[in-house]
Amino acid sequence: MQRVETIDQLRRVRGRLEGTVGFVPTLGFLHKGHLALMRRALDECDHLIVSVFVNPTQFGPGEDLEDYPRDLEGDAAKCRDVGCEILFTPERDHIYADNHCSWVEVKGLTDGLCGARRPGHFRGVATIVTKLFNVVDPDVAVFGRKDYQQLAVIRKLVCDLNFDIEIIGVDTVREDDGLATSSRNRYLDDQQRCQATSLAEGLVAAQRAYQQNPDQSVAELLDVARERIEGQPHTEIDYLECVHPVTLQRLDEAVPVGEDGAVIATAVFLGDARLIDNLRVDQPLPEGPLRRL
Ligand code: PAJ
Repeated sequence: MQRVETIDQLRRVRGRLEGTVGFVPTLGFLHKGHLALMRRALDECDHLIVSVFVNPTQFGPGEDLEDYPRDLEGDAAKCRDVGCEILFTPERDHIYADNHCSWVEVKGLTDGLCGARRPGHFRGVATIVTKLFNVVDPDVAVFGRKDYQQLAVIRKLVCDLNFDIEIIGVDTVREDDGLATSSRNRYLDDQQRCQATSLAEGLVAAQRAYQQNPDQSVAELLDVARERIEGQPHTEIDYLECVHPVTLQRLDEAVPVGEDGAVIATAVFLGDARLIDNLRVDQPLPEGPLRRL
């Protein structure tokens, strides 16, 4: 595996690759969720390129940019083990010059959920992903469904800006108790870590309630999830919403879920951590820990 830090170097080594290239962009501090994306990219393509870049423009004031966990050596070892060929680890100044002033904004899809709570976040994500797509020039790029809104935003920007890149979504990888694996889980102390299971439990409870009775209102389903999540002390719901799976428009809470189905998405503060999770209520639970809840 080659580790490269500059755009010129990356373009040079990427140019030498023959066959198809899969790309997985990350903020680093890699875990089994990231590794699942990498394996999927390698299933689809001849080569894998991974980027590790803590993108400053997607963090808001007061967020965890400076505290975001970093472990470049550990990340490099994991990438090598999985079969990554090129690891791109640029410095901040190399990606954003002082006079950087061009931005990519995906309107509409970013109005609700995390977009409403983290102003500017998706502008930062869309801009860095566009920049990375331009230099990596992949055939396929793989993203996690854990960041459901992010995946929708990337799909839209690829379509609107005519990138010739196939976007693949991978199911959320979870810990044994159902908690979605995340670099930010390390902010939790032991007690908070136990309480964090309530996110997945709440979503699964709502999914089961829907499967038992699809005719109940969206508000009733959200109540089922809210009760579970707020049943834990010290949890504070940032948002808990039921949205259309493609448009991410909020569903009318007074009526049942429509025929297109629905995603329940939530963000919850627990101590220093802000955790996100989501689940399709109209589909069977994915294989794995959620079925044991
Ligand atoms: P990061 O949070 O490092 O996540 C990188 C990719 O891993 C994203 O596509 C995310 O959805 C996926 N991922 C994270 N946890 C996962 C899990 N438990 N199961 C499955 N996939 C998971 O998302 C970002 O970085 C950034 O916004 C980025 C796209 C790199 C732009 O800076």
